[in-house]
Amino acid sequence: MKKKILFVCLGNICRSPSAEGIMKKLVREAGLENEIEVDSAGLIGYHEGELPDPRMRSHASRRGYTLDSRSRPVRLSDFDTFDYLIGMDDRNYDELRRLAPDTDSMRKVHRMVEYSRRYAHDHVPDPYYGGTEGFELVLDLLEDACAGLLEELVTSESDNRE
Ligand code: 4NP
Repeated sequence: MKKKILFVCLGNICRSPSAEGIMKKLVREAGLENEIEVDSAGLIGYHEGELPDPRMRSHASRRGYTLDSRSRPVRLSDFDTFDYLIGMDDRNYDELRRLAPDTDSMRKVHRMVEYSRRYAHDHVPDPYYGGTEGFELVLDLLEDACAGLLEELVTSESDNRE
């Protein structure tokens, strides 16, 4: 069964498109494109249709990630379409839980840092109003958590087969 992941932040131009780009690369490298689908969305529609922030794209490209998704707001149908809706911080998490139309949908909502392996940060901080280090930190935290998420997805799939 294909697993569908939606990464969510506020604007869908910094953190969640980076998570999408990193996760897609990991999934591709693992040869799991037919098993795992990845998308991202934002809780505000302010940047709808835009590419990710040029600063985020530039930092990501130096690590080999091409961020070419277009910002879109979270839709109610995302709670049906996706198996995991993963917020970058507590505000995203709380807002997703508030929007969830039923308890099954609510159970699909997670925090990105749940999947961290090396870092102990309690959220992925919004880099939008900060400097260079903020963008690098986002990539460090997301590379770690995406690897943890992939491991969890692969493990849960093999548990299901047993
Ligand atoms: P993101 O960063 O949630 O990581 O995409 C932000 C981008 C834009 C805004 C806020 C956060 N904004 O308020 O426009």
